Amino acid sequence: MHFIPEDIDHYVVAHSEDEPELLQQLTRETYQKILQPRMLSGHYQGRLLSMICKLVHPKNILEIGTYTGYSALCLAEGMQTSGELHTIDINEELFDFQRKYFDKSDFGKHIHQHLGNALEIIPKLNTTFDLVFIDADKENYTNYFEAVIDKLNSGGIILSDNVLWSGKVLDTTFKKEDTSTPALIAYNKLLKEDKRVETVVLPIRDGLTISRKL
Ligand SMILES: C[S@@+](CC[C@H](N)C(=O)[O-])C[C@H]1O[C@@H](n2cnc3c(N)ncnc32)[C@H](O)[C@@H]1O
Repeated sequence: MHFIPEDIDHYVVAHSEDEPELLQQLTRETYQKILQPRMLSGHYQGRLLSMICKLVHPKNILEIGTYTGYSALCLAEGMQTSGELHTIDINEELFDFQRKYFDKSDFGKHIHQHLGNALEIIPKLNTTFDLVFIDADKENYTNYFEAVIDKLNSGGIILSDNVLWSGKVLDTTFKKEDTSTPALIAYNKLLKEDKRVETVVLPIRDGLTISRKL
């Protein structure tokens, strides 16, 4: 869902950085071979992730929800040359696809894949992070926040994707079987109220929140 008129959206994309060739290839192959290709961050959000990461210039990055590796490669563009990017996904079928593209990039040796449930893997990561990107199952966003906050360095950034959930976060009449919407409503409230972070919600694509650890 786009929250701005389509013609403005096209203008914004046309006047932003082009999508690198490798990411165009990754996108094509994702659409050809992988289920739910719309999960991929895509050109505009990818350039935004890259730009934020270049501004923050983190040493260590944690990504929760790799999918086919698009956002990991965007984030890696802004990482310090001595940095490490750890990315977690529960779907083993994506592992080789991710590796192929990580190895085609300049960052392959610095990107570490973790296969499994992020809530089990995060406590075992023996490092601290300057930037965390949360983009996995929405029901666990609050759990991911609690799992990473003590591993985030002071001044570190948490980026949270899909926080507007196609606008459904405004809806108080969501269906009983919809567990994502109430989870995101609770998560957005937590980020606003938690004294450990300062937060700004960007109405970009499906909503992207930037939270900075105090
Ligand atoms: C929206 S996609 C990530 C998209 C990716 N960040 C990008 O922008 O290209 C969400 C991913 O989270 C993964 N996922 C869902 N639940 C998970 C869990 N409990 N632990 C780790 N990964 C999980 C899914 O397998 C899926 O690949």
